[in-house]
This record gives sequence, structure tokens and C-alpha cells, in this order.
Amino acid sequence: MCWIFGYIWTKDSADKILLHWLERLEYRGYDSAWIFVWDNNGNSQLVKSVWKVGNLVTKVQKTLDQTKNWTFGIAHTRWATHGWISEENTHPHHDMNNNFVLVHNGIIENYFMIKKELEAKWYKFYGETDSEVIANLLDDLRTGDFAETVDLVVNKIRGAYALLILSKRNPGEMIAVKLWSPLVFAYDNHDNFYFSSDKQALSGYADKLIYLDDWDILHIKDKNYQIKANWIKISRKIEDMDIDSLEASKWDYKHFMLKEISEQPAIIKRICKWRVNFVDKTMNAEAFHGMQDEHFKKIVFVGCGTSYNAWVLWTYFMEDLAWLESVAFIASEYEYQHINVDDETLFVFISQSGETADSISVLKLLKSRWAHTFGVVNVVWSTISRLTDYGLFTRAGAEIWVASTKAFTAQITCIVLLALFLGQKRWLSKAKYDKVLSELEKIPELIDEILDTSEQIQEVAKKLIQYKDFFFLWRHFQVPIARESSLKFKEITYLHSEFYPSGELKHGPLALVDANYPTILFAPNDLLFEKNISSIQEIKARDWIVVTVSDKDIAQSDYNIKVWTTIDELYPFVTAVVGQLLSYYAADGLGREIDKPRNLAKSVTVK
Ligand code: F6R
Repeated sequence: MCWIFGYIWTKDSADKILLHWLERLEYRGYDSAWIFVWDNNGNSQLVKSVWKVGNLVTKVQKTLDQTKNWTFGIAHTRWATHGWISEENTHPHHDMNNNFVLVHNGIIENYFMIKKELEAKWYKFYGETDSEVIANLLDDLRTGDFAETVDLVVNKIRGAYALLILSKRNPGEMIAVKLWSPLVFAYDNHDNFYFSSDKQALSGYADKLIYLDDWDILHIKDKNYQIKANWIKISRKIEDMDIDSLEASKWDYKHFMLKEISEQPAIIKRICKWRVNFVDKTMNAEAFHGMQDEHFKKIVFVGCGTSYNAWVLWTYFMEDLAWLESVAFIASEYEYQHINVDDETLFVFISQSGETADSISVLKLLKSRWAHTFGVVNVVWSTISRLTDYGLFTRAGAEIWVASTKAFTAQITCIVLLALFLGQKRWLSKAKYDKVLSELEKIPELIDEILDTSEQIQEVAKKLIQYKDFFFLWRHFQVPIARESSLKFKEITYLHSEFYPSGELKHGPLALVDANYPTILFAPNDLLFEKNISSIQEIKARDWIVVTVSDKDIAQSDYNIKVWTTIDELYPFVTAVVGQLLSYYAADGLGREIDKPRNLAKSVTVK
């Protein structure tokens, strides 16, 4: 899972542009990176390095021949899928005879079988990657016509890919082709052509862009481009580049994660501004276009990771506020289940990036069966937003850093609004509807209070980092928060954490009880407060350490993180922020690289 870039022609030195893009999108994968550049006389140079893009920048400064005018180049930041993190396994890959060079984002599922076939034909491989197999397959199937050769190859490989391919025999040409993995083509008025896995990298460079469809073959030749699908020349919709420059700044924050956490109150206000009038308690129906259809009897939610956790909350809201049957599924599992598609079911996809391969795969499957689909997506014009019938944007702003925080809060804000919107059309009482809305208006202030008193969380985090295993416990509306906090905690501290419904403890997990296994229990003063106290007693009876997150003083707990009171349905907003900060301070105390946790990347564009 990687991020790929291509730049062709004259505006600036290709090396500068490519390095700038790599730095911008490094958070998407940071196991290794490289640039490969050409000049108009056919000279080329490759510079690669493992780990951070900063290493590559230093190496380029030291080793790239600055006397050449590099007008053409490709680049790549890698998150390893096949093959260890090493310079050999770092792209660009070429075939044994050096006829083709390519960069690949994705996974080729049948690469091993193709590799065996090629080895039987005496092809030799220098590394272990699936991408190198594509390069040799291009050579093996070479017909003399560049585009035809690429077509033969894509008919043989299975899996997901976005490929930029160069051919020694076709200087000045580049072919791009994709299946499942994202790829954007863009250009400006000066005959500069750009390719990127993500349009954000291109802001400030290109004026127009085209999202390539699966199987499209885009061929750049003689300063022109042509797109073909099934051998027929086609045109795709040309769009304006409409995003602001993506220069992220930490301001005074120690880490980007902390900055994104602190943006949450403003984001909630922004999301509500256009959708709700808090004075007369009305909602803007236009903002929920596609959800108005009252014949839906069931809602099925699909997502991954943090986005899935937001969905779990939704199922509770739907039943509590909208009285509508709803279920949430993890995308990577759902695809292999028997899915009932009918006219009364709405399938809702939630995703920050809109590019998560597991979710897109289910979405495509459902679309082929004419299902009704709706997207709740942060990145405008991402694949999920383009493929779903209707949807809304969560508008959290660009979430750059790996651990999702503000996108989650934006998602749950949209979810409350959607549940209220549907609820008022169903059986939700006016009194409850009004109450939830007026409490929602106060949530940004409550989060500000948590941020202002975050030393209490910092203190607890300091005490916790001496342990290695943690339980996050929940009941009812706190389900998604315990799930999400446990995910965030393990993601950035690298400590083991599990989440469990408190009621399940005595059905097995209590066997793990010992004094080295702290428990974090979300126990606000809600309907189930008394039950939570019983759980604490069960734990304390065995001398476990208990951290509670509550608006009440809990004598039985070892440490209580104090939050502010709201209604049962909206406690998740405050407890979620505590979970984020607890994870953050624990990771910081352990000296972890918080914004770029090991082995992870921001957008998971492979299945
Ligand atoms: C965790 C995290 C991931 C993502 C997941 C889905 O902090 O960021 O678990 O939530 O990969 O990504 P999206 O929401 O882009 O579909």
C-alpha cells in the first residue's frame, strides 16, 4: 500500500516537485521512498532510501546530478505489503531486460503463479515483490505496441493496482492504468502532466483533473494524452482543482495529533452550522438528501477501523432516536457474507479517506446488485463519495495524521444529526428531539473544558505506562468509545489493549485478572451507572487497577478522570476525547513517534 506520483514536462525540475509531493503525503506510508528522473537527452537517475522521506531528501541533495534539467519523473512512498523493507524491494521495478520501469500501488493476488511461469521461461528476479513480477510480465508479453502490451498484462493480473509504466523503447511516453486503487490524472496550461494517488498532493500545481475509472488506459505521448477503455477512445469528466494548498502546520502543538484533537470543538460547530438551526430547533432537509426516503426499513452500515467504531454508535442511536433497525459490519468481513439486497434496505458507507479498499470492494459488489447506497465521507470527491448514490461530507477538514481523531468526532456528530433527522420523521418525541439538540449545542464547550483540564489525563497516563496490558470496558452508548479508545491506545502506544462489555467480564475475561492489568471503564452518570459500579466492585474484589471516566466521583476507582455532564446519548463525545488524550499522553510518555506509528499508513488502499 503505497502512494505513487508521476510528473511529465517542463514547468519545474521534476525532482523538486516529486520530493515536495512525497513530503506532503508521507503520512500515507513511510517504509521507504524514491524518485526516478529523466532529462530530455535520455539520461536518468534513481535515488532511493528506506524509512522517512527526510532520508531521501538528504540523499537527493547529496547525490542527484544538479547539472541536468530533469523534466520527467516518477516517485513513490511505500508501505510494505510484499517483501521486507529494503532498498531492493523499494520501487521502481524493472524487468530483467530493462525494457520497462514501473511504479505500483496495490497488491497483485496471483503474482506467485505468474512468477513461477516466468521463472520457467528463465526470468530472474532481484527482489520479492509482486510489482517486479508485473515488470517482467510486460517484457514477456511485449508486442511492439506499448499500449497493447499493457492491455495484455492487465488481462492477466488479478488484484488491485494503480500503475505508472515507462518503456525504454517509447521515450517520453507514460501509461497509467488502474483497478481498485486510486489514481488521479491532472494537468495545467503549460503542458505539464501529473499523476497521483491522491489529488491533495497536486494542489497548487494542476488546474484540471480527471479521476480514472477501473480498466482505463491513459497514454501520454507527444505532449498529449488519450484515454481508452476496451480499446475505444473515450473522454472522462474533467474537473477543476478546487482544494486549498495542503501545507500542514503544527503551530505550537507538540504533535499533529494533539492539534487535530484540539480542532474538534470548532469542527462540531461547523458541521452543525449548516445543518441545524439551534434557535428554532429545525434541521436543513437539503443537508440530508438521500436519507429522506421513508420506505427504508433497515439500514446496514459498512466501514473499517475508527469509522466502523463510529457506525457502532450509530446503531445505538438509530434504535434509540430513530427506531429503525440497523446493523454495522466490518467491510473486510462483510464482503464474504451472504448479503441480502432489497428495495427497503439502505447501505451506508462511512470513511474518512473515501479510499479504503475493503469498503470500496463491498460498495462495488452492492452496486452491481442495484443496492441503495449512501456515503458519509470526509474527503470530497474520493472514490466512495463518487460511487454512492447519495451522501454527506463530514467536513472535518484534511485529517493528515495516522491516528484518526477529529474525523471520528465529525462522524459521530453527523450520525447524531442523521438519527435526529430520521427520528423526527418517525416516532421520536418532540421533547427528546429538542433536548438532544440543545445538549448538542453545548458539546463543543464541554470538549473545550476537557482540553483545558487535560493535566488530569496526563497524570493518569503517566501512571499507566508502566503496565503492558489494558482492558477498556463499556456498556451501552459507551460501546463504540471503548472500542475506539482501545484501538487508539494500541495504535500509538504499541501496548496491548482489549475492549469488552463490562457485563461479559464474568463470562471469561476475569480469568486475566491480576494487579498488572489496568482497566479503563467509561462510566458516566447515565442509565447504567449503577451497573458500572457493580462491575468496578467485581474488579476491585480481585485487586485490579481501575481508571474511571465519569462526571461523578467514584470512590471505588483508583483514578477518576472527571468529565462534564450531558445526556446519555451525548456522553460519547466527551469520553471519546478523554480516550484520545489518554492514548496521546501515554504514547508521548513512552516516547513513541505519535504522528507516524510503526507499520501503519493513513489510507488503507489495499485489501
Ligand atoms: C485508526 C484509523 C483507521 C481508519 C480505517 C478506515 O486511527 O485511522 O482505523 O479508521 O483505516 O479508514 P477510512 O475511515 O479512511 O475508511
